[in-house]
Amino acid sequence: DRVTLVADPSRAVLPVSDILLGAFLEDINHAIDGGLSANLIANHSFEGAYVSRRLHTNTIAAVTRRRPRPVSDPLRHWRVRSGTLAAPAVDEAGTGDDASTPLVPGARFARLTSEGAAVVRNVGHARRGAGIGARRGVVYHVDARVRLGSFDGSLVARLVDRRGRALASSTLTLTPDPDHPGWHVATAALRPPRTALVAFEIAARGAGTLDLDEVRLIPADHWGAGDPRWSQGVLRRDLVEAIAELKPRFVRFPGGCIVEGLDCANAYDWKRTVGPLAGRRPDYNLWGLSTRGGDYSQSFQVGYYEYFLLCEDLGAKPLPVVGAGMACQLRATEVLPLDSPEFAAVVQDVLDMIEWATGDPASSPWARLRAEAGHPEPFSLDMIAVGNENAGPQYLHRFRAIREAVRARHPHMDVVLSAGALAWGVEFEQAWEEARRDPRGLIVDEHFYKSPSWVIDAASRYDAYPRDVRVAVGEYAANLPSGLVPAPIRPVPNTFRSALAEAAFLTGVERNADVVAMASFAPLLNLVGHGQWEHNLIDFNPFAVMPTANHHVQRMFAATVRERIVPLDRDGLPPGLLVSATAGAGLSGEVPVRDGLPADDAVAVKLVEVAGRAARVRLRVPGAAEGAPVRVEVLAASDEARNRLRWVGRGRHEVRPRVSRRVTGPDGV
Ligand code: AHR
Repeated sequence: DRVTLVADPSRAVLPVSDILLGAFLEDINHAIDGGLSANLIANHSFEGAYVSRRLHTNTIAAVTRRRPRPVSDPLRHWRVRSGTLAAPAVDEAGTGDDASTPLVPGARFARLTSEGAAVVRNVGHARRGAGIGARRGVVYHVDARVRLGSFDGSLVARLVDRRGRALASSTLTLTPDPDHPGWHVATAALRPPRTALVAFEIAARGAGTLDLDEVRLIPADHWGAGDPRWSQGVLRRDLVEAIAELKPRFVRFPGGCIVEGLDCANAYDWKRTVGPLAGRRPDYNLWGLSTRGGDYSQSFQVGYYEYFLLCEDLGAKPLPVVGAGMACQLRATEVLPLDSPEFAAVVQDVLDMIEWATGDPASSPWARLRAEAGHPEPFSLDMIAVGNENAGPQYLHRFRAIREAVRARHPHMDVVLSAGALAWGVEFEQAWEEARRDPRGLIVDEHFYKSPSWVIDAASRYDAYPRDVRVAVGEYAANLPSGLVPAPIRPVPNTFRSALAEAAFLTGVERNADVVAMASFAPLLNLVGHGQWEHNLIDFNPFAVMPTANHHVQRMFAATVRERIVPLDRDGLPPGLLVSATAGAGLSGEVPVRDGLPADDAVAVKLVEVAGRAARVRLRVPGAAEGAPVRVEVLAASDEARNRLRWVGRGRHEVRPRVSRRVTGPDGV
């Protein structure tokens, strides 16, 4: 029995938020280091910022009980053959003689001693013995800093496969580094003739001692190549393209828990993530706690400057998340006193960040830093988020202080208030009371990590929300088998059922897109086999990117969200059928004009069937011309189906796309 659904564009009045669907980017699962950052070398600057191996755990519960112990392990990820490799002690005072002064004050470097021949090796981020993905015919640029010391001989860069065979090698060319007296810039280009997992090596042919720092191996086809704005960190192209497919209207970054840190010293400090790369001092990554050996650090080669550029390239609004002076909500052990100089510094950092992003280089030293990096024009920035998943009175006091300081200088800046996360048992009520107290320019951010059935039910969540305060869903996923804190963090993987639940939820987001300002799935990226979180949107390995079923859902919604909400009469629809519709111009400019029809006059209807029954639906679009082109896109699979990108031994991988889209009809309106 067929039901008729009427999508009448003439009844579409309420506007859809123009930043409705976006992306959330945090360095978890090697999303950034080992992923989006195009430098394939792990621990490239010998800072070795990790957490104690003894702390290794994969349960949130254990993380909350233990204190992190940052360790400096400068030679982590590096091996030496024949010669010796050491990391001289840091010369904090910078008073050392010329031969031991670091490239950057207070930073580490490596010292290689060769008796005639020595080799240093780095296997990259994927822990497979040789974990760097070298692709056939692609040029890989090597760029390192070398101080020759007593070394007399030549240096050769090479890519070596798992059997030790060199796929490509080239002598490093050394030119004096104008910015660092005594150091040379060492460069080479390597072009592997076949695709393979490789290690990167520098072979010293000659005797003596030399120093090494800031080692980069970057594929020439990286994102940002040849663009003067991308003068510092650069990105892996296929991952940027997979994110671009989501047509994000905003990007929320850099976290997540990373923003807050395991303690306040580990909170994300945007100031150490901008400026010349050599000056960006790495920090440990709290997600390293759930990696064997704490084997994960944040190098900040992708930092605030790169995040803002990425937003610009994607046509997405930046939503930087700044800390509220409180450690990660899962520990909640450290909170900066409101009247402390440390908290005053947190507030000042937020103001400085806004000035860095939007200020005038002629008058602002922060803005000058941005201009020097290659972006004299201000970045567009009209919203910030304060805190991540923080909640409760301590948070609200700190939120208010930061919000007031921002408002005094930037009255038109929207501010996102954290309501917490339902997965961790937080109730949102206090945040909503705060929002009702003063809703001007405020967006309340609710996070959900819940079971598929909960997420399906949440499709109606916003139908009854008050219309006077905007809401964001900054993180959500249908990932947990059941309610509360998972221990260990083993959410259900990306089955089609979870994707379907998220699609159902998105019909509710779209239907209420006047009050729901923004929504982003979390987490976004995952280096397969090295993740801390099982349910992610885009899986990748050193060679390939595999969008999950959930990615298809996000992509389909984002590509078809239009500018006004079409009210639908849902009475009489079979249970399990969820619907939404929008009309007008596309928000992401995706649908090409076809058959002479303007792209700004389309109706997009979403139907999501979650009960596993065939639904026969007749769709009526009043006002549509007889024979108007119709495009139908279908995503269907069994509940357990999932797309997989699997390692199958010896560095080979297997791609199994079990969930894919079917499209019929013209690519028209
Ligand atoms: O998305 C992974 C984590 O989940 C985020 O860092 C945090 O905000 C949430 O609890």
